[in-house]
Amino acid sequence: MTLQVLPSSAWREFRGFPGLRGLNQTSHFALVEGSGGKLHKCFLKLIDPSTPGLLCEALGWAVAQGASVPTAEFACIVFVPVDELKKHVALPSWLTGLSEAPAWCTEVITGDSVAQVHKWLYAIRRKRCLNSIDTHAIAAFDVWSDNADRHMGNVMRSSSGGYVAIDHETLLHEMLWIPSGRRYTVQRLVDAGKTFLGKSAFKTFFSNMHDAAGTHNGAMKSVEKDIRDIVATVVDPVHALPLANAIVSYLGARSAPSWFPANVGVTA
Ligand SMILES: Nc1ncnc2c1ncn2[C@@H]1O[C@H](COP(=O)(O)OP(=O)(O)O)[C@@H](O)[C@H]1O
Ligand SMILES: [Mg+2]
Repeated sequence: MTLQVLPSSAWREFRGFPGLRGLNQTSHFALVEGSGGKLHKCFLKLIDPSTPGLLCEALGWAVAQGASVPTAEFACIVFVPVDELKKHVALPSWLTGLSEAPAWCTEVITGDSVAQVHKWLYAIRRKRCLNSIDTHAIAAFDVWSDNADRHMGNVMRSSSGGYVAIDHETLLHEMLWIPSGRRYTVQRLVDAGKTFLGKSAFKTFFSNMHDAAGTHNGAMKSVEKDIRDIVATVVDPVHALPLANAIVSYLGARSAPSWFPANVGVTA
């Protein structure tokens, strides 16, 4: 897998805004032409380059793909023509003076985020999500990759009935985000499972999480090259090699079979 980096000519057409827009005002849908010429309907967001967000989105997507954690089928980095986007939305100040800027881009998942629902239905939706084996694999992946912000707005329920992880922006929270001066209040699916599921359902959750964690070591071996390629693509060449080494070593250690039970707990 090589992450495609597409020029601004690949950003074809603005296609509106998501129903639940998070904090990032640049989030939008657009038609994007992949390197093979195929047109994809995509969700895009431009990410402040003073944060590790773009790198984390790309790493999260690639590692999730390698570990068979449900996530968008197609993803890339695409340069967005800033003047075109400006016609539709007020842009943040860090884009001032730029004619184009890289966006994280994923194929649209048909469905809604689990949080995107009227209040009275939310508790039912959340419970269904927490009972899904897809969610248990996402929960294990988030602990492995130290993703700090997996609330229900960052899980989509696809129209085919499965659950899909979106928004890997806060990956490597302790390694990259905290040293950069931004600390998130950690939100994890495993904690939601503990809080909102009964004892027996949570036992299943935890046991499935352990099974998923058992696949991380093999997945890590298969994605190491992708991780190195992504870091080399996104990060300044002076810092890329030591950073890639540090990330591979960090994720590698947390993918070892003994790491998960020692750090998250053993199944009853
Ligand atoms: N691949 C996608 N397909 C469809 N909708 C998406 C996709 N990615 C994000 N969204 C929608 O956009 C919202 C914001 O996206 P997200 O990546 O979570 O941005 P933020 O960083 O602002 O939280 C999500 O809650 C979801 O409703
Ligand atoms: Mg989000």
